[in-house]
Amino acid sequence: MSEPFDSLFAAASQARAHAYAPYSRFAVGAAAIDEEGRVFAGCNVENAAYPQGQCAEATTIGMMVAGGGSRIVEMLVIGGEPGDGLLCTPCGGCRQRIREFAAPETPVHICGPEGLRRTASVDELLPYSFGPDNLGHRA
Ligand code: THU
Repeated sequence: MSEPFDSLFAAASQARAHAYAPYSRFAVGAAAIDEEGRVFAGCNVENAAYPQGQCAEATTIGMMVAGGGSRIVEMLVIGGEPGDGLLCTPCGGCRQRIREFAAPETPVHICGPEGLRRTASVDELLPYSFGPDNLGHRA
């Protein structure tokens, strides 16, 4: 696998180890590379008031923005157990969050703890999306 993939996978795995998921017991890690090649990572952070929980992707995007990044060039998510045959794809809300900072062709790598399961573009995950351009904003 490529070098960006390896750094994303390592960062997301590390963040996943810190997931706060006492309710679902479903730990997720995510990582993104910004336009300057910097890697940011995050985990899910649940809450006793369930709707207040935050996905790993949302944490990662917050880390990127707080760190001065403005574009997602490549993203990766890790969830699930080895051999479960499932894809831990970003939830609907997170697809929209990713779309805000990424291009339609930006790759999102969906991984299990053992490695890559599938790569999808942002446009595949969220086709016909509404975005900044609809409001006259250019990325
Ligand atoms: N979760 C994520 O953090 N990212 C995903 O891509 C899917 C789901 C979290 C939310 C919640 O803390 C737990 O996984 C179960 O839904």
